[in-house]
Amino acid sequence: MSISGIKKVACIGAGTIGSSWATNSCMKGYPVVLYDISEPMLEKAKKNIKDNLDFLSECGVFNKEEVQAALDRVTLTTDMKALGDVQFIQENGPENYEIKQGILAQVDKVAPRDAIYASSTSGLLISEISKYSEYADRCVGAHPYNPPHLIPLVELAKGEKTKDEVLETACELYKAIGKEPVILKKEILGFIANRLQAALYREVIEIVNRGVCTVEDVDKACLFGPGLRYGILGPNLIWHLGGGEGGLKHLLDFIRPTIGLWYNDMSDAKDLPDGWSDKAMAGVLEEMKNRDKEFGNTSAEVARFRDQTLVELLRIHKKL
Ligand SMILES: NC(=O)c1ccc[n+]([C@@H]2O[C@H](COP(=O)([O-])OP(=O)(O)OC[C@H]3O[C@@H](n4cnc5c(N)ncnc54)[C@H](O)[C@@H]3O)[C@@H](O)[C@H]2O)c1
Repeated sequence: MSISGIKKVACIGAGTIGSSWATNSCMKGYPVVLYDISEPMLEKAKKNIKDNLDFLSECGVFNKEEVQAALDRVTLTTDMKALGDVQFIQENGPENYEIKQGILAQVDKVAPRDAIYASSTSGLLISEISKYSEYADRCVGAHPYNPPHLIPLVELAKGEKTKDEVLETACELYKAIGKEPVILKKEILGFIANRLQAALYREVIEIVNRGVCTVEDVDKACLFGPGLRYGILGPNLIWHLGGGEGGLKHLLDFIRPTIGLWYNDMSDAKDLPDGWSDKAMAGVLEEMKNRDKEFGNTSAEVARFRDQTLVELLRIHKKL
């Protein structure tokens, strides 16, 4: 199937990611069927999609007529047969092999044989998700970043049986709806970006648990230091600039002895420690309370601030 054959898409799972993907597809002109087993989740998703589009309208991205046209492209359903005439399916069910395998088995019965099946999995293997499917050749791992209707990255991974043309068409479709796909040369748990996030977070736990700093201090150090640069450049280019005329090689040769000392002192934990989630939650609630009012003191306010800032950044990167 080539991208010109994709006329209608489906999102399975109407939670955080499914409703955001549905927003992305309808705002880029695709009719979208949003399927979930839960009526209340579909109702919530309907409101999320409208809120997402209204927010983009407030930011001047769309006018009111465009918002209404986008909303009119969305069909909500608990009947999987509605996937009978779609050419692209984005699965956003729970992050669990058995559930994802079960969803795919149902899809195999109702969707057209050549419809592409893309899983939003945060880090499971598409080969494993599709291992019982007769049609594993049409399956691809397609990991978005939250919220997918704003964040451009989609990480694409082929499974053992995925056809090259499926990956190519998925890649084209994501570009057509404003995404920045990165194709993995081989599938790996956690894709690229979540492995990087997990590595960073392992050290967050280490330094807070060693009493070096608070949860709030970690966020401040990230946000006002490397985080500001990461919104502009990736870690390799950032360090390349730090190396002056000699560039990245010079910097790496220079810091090698020091970084070796750090590596030896850093965490190599294989799991989140017991009690960490309570400690982290308490830390983040304290942080939220201490924020300047104009940047938000509740999850909803902070999310709005994040999205407003994202829109500005996306405009700078010419992604909106
Ligand atoms: N939340 C994130 O930040 C994030 C980011 C990237 C990727 N992901 C991945 O996206 C997927 C969805 O995550 P989420 O955060 O949107 O989860 P969520 O819990 O918000 O939503 C999951 C939805 O799936 C529905 N569901 C459950 N069983 C189902 C079934 N058998 N058939 C159809 N729908 C079913 C639920 O009713 C719910 O609406 C996961 O694989 C997750 O790892 C999440």
